[in-house]
Amino acid sequence: AIERTFSIIKPDAVAKNVIGEIYSRFEKSGLRIVAAKMVHLTQAQAEGFYAVHKERPFFKDLVSFMISGPVMMQVLEGENAIALNREIMGATNPKDAALGTIRADFASSIDENAVHGSDGQDTAKEEIAFFFSDNELCARTR
Ligand code: CMP
Repeated sequence: AIERTFSIIKPDAVAKNVIGEIYSRFEKSGLRIVAAKMVHLTQAQAEGFYAVHKERPFFKDLVSFMISGPVMMQVLEGENAIALNREIMGATNPKDAALGTIRADFASSIDENAVHGSDGQDTAKEEIAFFFSDNELCARTR
């Protein structure tokens, strides 16, 4: 089925100037960008977005990393978009990420791992709604 998923290009990848290369990976895999914005997240936004990880030992470092510089946020649409995006991102820890995946090629550690992608249908819906209003999601007209 055609799905939408939420994606973040994290501060490490924005700093490396590889937004375009990562967009190219999305496009080559068949994913379409249907919404996008560049934002320097506030602490409150980062804490809210990652609230599910609040009790995890890495939470503080995760939030400070995510506010260390601008991020590029996008909604990706396509057949099986949620799983497809996770496949092209590779494993959370770049050490475990398959050859040719975004994290294998651009991430340096489990903390600075270049991209985020929704892990399921419910989180995709929630995460898209956290940062985008309905009128910011563009339908294809041709
Ligand atoms: P992300 O998909 O953005 O979701 C939470 C982030 O926490 C994750 O990517 C990693 O960058 C980071 N993180 C740091 N340590 C861990 C860990 N042990 N397990 C999962 N995520 C971690």
